[in-house]
Amino acid sequence: MSPPALHPLAQASNDALAKDCPVVLDLLSARGKRFFFPAKGILAQGAEAKKKAKTANATVGIATENGAPMHLACVGKYYQGLTPSEIFDYAPSQGRADIRAAWAKKQRGETPSLGDHLTSTPVVTNALTHGLGLVGDLFLDPGDQVLSSELMWENYNLNWETRLEARFNYYALFDEKLTGFNLPGFTAALAKHRGKKLLVSLNFPNNPSGYTPTRKEADGIVQALTAEAEAGTRLVVCVDDAYYGMLFDEDATNESLFGRLAQASNNLLAVKVDGATKEEFVWGLRVGFITFGVKNGTAAAYKALEDKAAGIIRSYISNVSNPGQSVVLKALGDPEFRKQQAEKIAVLRARAAVVAKECRRPEYADCWDVYPFNSGYFMCLRLKDADADTVRVRLLDEHGVGTIALGKRELRIAFSCLAEPQIPGVFSAAAKAVRSVRGK
Ligand SMILES: Cc1ncc(COP(=O)(O)O)c(C=O)c1O
Repeated sequence: MSPPALHPLAQASNDALAKDCPVVLDLLSARGKRFFFPAKGILAQGAEAKKKAKTANATVGIATENGAPMHLACVGKYYQGLTPSEIFDYAPSQGRADIRAAWAKKQRGETPSLGDHLTSTPVVTNALTHGLGLVGDLFLDPGDQVLSSELMWENYNLNWETRLEARFNYYALFDEKLTGFNLPGFTAALAKHRGKKLLVSLNFPNNPSGYTPTRKEADGIVQALTAEAEAGTRLVVCVDDAYYGMLFDEDATNESLFGRLAQASNNLLAVKVDGATKEEFVWGLRVGFITFGVKNGTAAAYKALEDKAAGIIRSYISNVSNPGQSVVLKALGDPEFRKQQAEKIAVLRARAAVVAKECRRPEYADCWDVYPFNSGYFMCLRLKDADADTVRVRLLDEHGVGTIALGKRELRIAFSCLAEPQIPGVFSAAAKAVRSVRGK
């Protein structure tokens, strides 16, 4: 069966990419090539009317009363400090222009290496999971190759492998002695795809290990990717910055790798997936962003990518929660925001320091190795001679301590959810569970 004819707007977006960034056009999946934003559709006509319909606006599918969205007092009473429009009205599929501009400013402020290099404007997503879904939708066809570290958030598999039928390749995140990032392993894994298309997933601070590369390691990662792209590999590099800013160690790089990757090579499209979820401690609000950057990127090429992302958003969720965007925007502009955020990060940093001491007590040396950690919400133990899930169940049933087992040997501990006084008990219970599982 032949695919449906390409919509003229998709053709126009593809033509813009073909002219300015031909490799990016080539990197798009069949779905990505097909997608467009319906610029003359209901939303666009409604947006036009919003600006010009001074007599009466009978366009968009909401109900209005007294010049504001109609609403029920029993719903409105749960919101304070937001206007009915900020709560009840639809947001555009790309996200609200004000929050997109505010987030772009924040990204640039936090990423000096970006300089004045042009990137797309961030498109609002239903938090990061949805952003990762869009990366897959735009760039992965069945059978396309993905490179990820073995230690990764499991939802990547559900999203890109189970849903989109991509094929995962893995490298060990750390060297065998667990001293730091496994640059040789990463470089060798990249080289296996020389000359082909590859989606590389980077996530620092990493879930589950809690690791962020040092500045030197970060240089190495950027150099390896740039060299590979210059050797002819066509790369999409997805930079998942979910835990951005949660750094507990001076050596860890404090900038997103997106800044340098966005201007590394015409053969490398960097896609930043980030959002308010963890940074602003608003997990349930569901506000994230997807941003594109490539060395030869132009306004027209970025517009094409934004339109394609917004078209996919329009097709299956239409738009992202407006109250969520309103709250995040107000928080970003609040003079207290940075101070309050720093206070919470300091709480996490203090917990990480206790964890670092407790998990490495000499009496636990027979039970596990500790994966390096210096950031984020988690740390991860590599258990010795005990199956991780059996230990997890024992720990839960006999000690009432909940952890996450990953693979055969890894036990993830979210210290983000542990008060400092709880931490010693968690590790001593974990050691008891390991010994009980292996019978000594
Ligand atoms: C690495 C990583 N990326 C993305 C996400 C998804 O975040 P969100 O809740 O914003 O969808 C998580 C959540 O745990 C995560 O750990």
